[in-house]
Amino acid sequence: MKSPYKLLGAIFTLATHDVASAFNNPPGVDIWCGKAYRATNASFNPDGWLFEPNATSPSPLLDLRVYPRMNYYLNDQNGSFIVDAPISYIPGQGQKFSNKTFNANSSTPTAFTTLQIEITNPVTGEVLVPWTEIPINSTDNEFSFSLSSFTPRLDPYNIQIFGASPDAVQTFQSSTLLTVLPKPQNSGSAVRIDQLYGGLQVATNPSEDSISWKPFFPFSFYTNWDWITTALLSPNSTFSLDAFKASGYNMIHPIPGGGDPPFNATLFQLFLNKTDSLNLFVMYDMRWTYQNLTSITTQILPLLPHPSLLLYYTGDEPDGQGDPLSAPLTSYTHLKQLDPYHPTSLCLNCANFHFDAYSAGADILLSDVYPTALNATFSRVYHTPCNATYGDCGCDDCDGALADIAARLDAWASFQRWLGLGRQSARGRGAKSRWTVPQAFWDAGGFWARYPTQSEVVGMVLAALNHGATGVVAWAWPTAAEVAGVMGALGRVVVGETVPGF
Ligand SMILES: *[C@@H]1O[C@H](CO)[C@@H](O)[C@H](O)[C@H]1NC(C)=O
Ligand SMILES: *[C@@H]1O[C@H](CO)[C@@H](O)[C@H](O)[C@H]1NC(C)=O
Ligand SMILES: *[C@@H]1O[C@H](CO)[C@@H](O)[C@H](O)[C@H]1NC(C)=O
Ligand SMILES: *[C@@H]1O[C@H](CO)[C@@H](O)[C@H](O)[C@H]1NC(C)=O
Ligand SMILES: *[C@@H]1O[C@H](CO)[C@@H](O)[C@H](O)[C@H]1NC(C)=O
Ligand SMILES: *[C@@H]1O[C@H](CO)[C@@H](O)[C@H](O)[C@H]1NC(C)=O
Ligand SMILES: *[C@@H]1O[C@H](CO)[C@@H](O)[C@H](O)[C@H]1NC(C)=O
Ligand SMILES: *[C@@H]1O[C@H](CO)[C@@H](O)[C@H](O)[C@H]1NC(C)=O
Ligand SMILES: *[C@@H]1O[C@H](CO)[C@@H](O)[C@H](O)[C@H]1NC(C)=O
Ligand SMILES: *[C@@H]1O[C@H](CO)[C@@H](O)[C@H](O)[C@H]1NC(C)=O
Ligand SMILES: *[C@@H]1O[C@H](CO)[C@@H](O)[C@H](O)[C@H]1NC(C)=O
Ligand SMILES: *[C@@H]1O[C@H](CO)[C@@H](O)[C@H](O)[C@H]1NC(C)=O
Repeated sequence: MKSPYKLLGAIFTLATHDVASAFNNPPGVDIWCGKAYRATNASFNPDGWLFEPNATSPSPLLDLRVYPRMNYYLNDQNGSFIVDAPISYIPGQGQKFSNKTFNANSSTPTAFTTLQIEITNPVTGEVLVPWTEIPINSTDNEFSFSLSSFTPRLDPYNIQIFGASPDAVQTFQSSTLLTVLPKPQNSGSAVRIDQLYGGLQVATNPSEDSISWKPFFPFSFYTNWDWITTALLSPNSTFSLDAFKASGYNMIHPIPGGGDPPFNATLFQLFLNKTDSLNLFVMYDMRWTYQNLTSITTQILPLLPHPSLLLYYTGDEPDGQGDPLSAPLTSYTHLKQLDPYHPTSLCLNCANFHFDAYSAGADILLSDVYPTALNATFSRVYHTPCNATYGDCGCDDCDGALADIAARLDAWASFQRWLGLGRQSARGRGAKSRWTVPQAFWDAGGFWARYPTQSEVVGMVLAALNHGATGVVAWAWPTAAEVAGVMGALGRVVVGETVPGF
């Protein structure tokens, strides 16, 4: 739980109480990650767990999948498709596969080790990738194709892939969606996702003839809005957005207060003018208002012309709070209709609570596992044990070790595999990008005994980077001087040219 806003959180918990009781909790029992956490309430089965599907198919299946490398194209000459052809034993994930094929020179079959594939536009019949070969059980095969026949439009194009054994006796097929957008009318930036590696590409001239995409690795903090307004209205050499950017951060994520509108509109425009001029990108947080589609529309229209707009952020720990399961996807769909040029993110807090529904509402998932100076088995705040069905210790199903950060990111990779990347590839997606929220706060009396040390901060960030995180947004700024010092030093390494390129 994000303690600086504990009071607001408590108010909202009351307000959403009816919603939370849509889960397994008996009436009057408050939950976090679906679990009772008050000493006055007993443990019950929270449900909502995702399990690894049983590999019960008696014979192997070939799961042929294709998705476009970029979540959208915009004025590009060429695009590329990523093709995967793993062998699976999970019923429903793949088509029947027999490890034999005949060739013209022999009457005995040989092993089926190479798949012939072709990718087409099924409406026009145009061949985008002519018959070529990939190894059986391989992933991440990339094929370039020309975008010249795709008229830019908001609706995605349906794309088909065919696969065949060399003797053409066994055939396979699946499909995906390809998005080729028109130039934006009123957008100061365009941001897209490299779905193969999970990184971002940013263009600040999306309406020009020649768009220059740059790789971007976000490194920053959730930032207190009062701190931002002071830095904006009475800056000095050490307390300003210029100084914030110069210390090593390439993005800023203002934390909204609880009202609607959540930010003073005049001050927010002044802020965006400043971030535009600094080339400091903005992650726009709608944690309190994302379930109100009217409010979303009102909030985002004034942001669009600003080149520093990077992406949206909807639910803040919607799984912890027990927001309605449909809420993230509903706001995601609304945002995509209003603005297909920027990604949407949200932050999940629970180890395994309705991951499928909550993660469906984002292109990018942030993980806020705070494992340092934690008592992971006995709650410092609620004075109960914590386990798989009970208690809130501040880090769901954690061990209180840096490895918790890596374990959560790895679990999300597995969850997405279990859900069937094929299902996502049918929607034009590969796996979702994963970002990390390093612990950079301390609230006395809360779940954590102190600020993390400098080595712990480095450990948290590097554990996440080594386990596939493609963005770093620490909670929260302002922070302790030592934490700020080491985060800035890491930021200056990460935001350069080398790391995003890699
Ligand atoms: C749960 O705890 C609350 C707050 O202490 C209490 O009012 C309520 O009666 C408890 N409910 C159950 C079902 O235990
Ligand atoms: C896997 O099989 C076991 C044993 O039959 C069963 O209890 C479990 O529910 C299955 N898991 C899934 C995800 O279906
Ligand atoms: C697009 O692909 C064609 C054919 O492979 C190649 O000649 C051309 O240089 C590519 N264009 C760009 C911008 O990469
Ligand atoms: C079949 O034999 C011919 C002639 O020896 C050879 O050129 C061809 O590559 C062989 N085909 C296969 C599939 O092995
Ligand atoms: C097919 O058989 C070959 C030869 O035995 C083997 O190398 C290959 O791993 C098998 N492929 C699959 C998917 O089982
Ligand atoms: C397919 O690839 C996976 C992952 O690399 C590997 O674990 C598995 O053994 C391979 N299966 C076959 C039949 O080759
Ligand atoms: C800069 O402004 C901050 C916030 O108003 C203040 O705390 C700090 O003392 C000022 N520093 C200098 C060097 O003026
Ligand atoms: C927004 O901030 C400006 C500048 O500080 C102030 O003049 C204005 O009254 C504020 N508007 C609201 C609605 O609070
Ligand atoms: C932001 O910049 C725009 C364009 O220069 C200007 O029209 C607008 O008044 C500025 N807004 C504020 C609040 O300063
Ligand atoms: C939704 O947002 C609109 C616009 O900000 C506001 O007028 C309305 O009261 C909000 N609705 C709810 C239920 O909060
Ligand atoms: C957690 O709290 C329990 C109960 O106070 C205590 O026995 C245990 O040693 C604590 N563990 C850690 C890692 O602080
Ligand atoms: C978790 O702890 C509670 C309270 O001690 C206990 O009732 C429950 O059985 C435990 N659950 C598990 C899965 O161990």
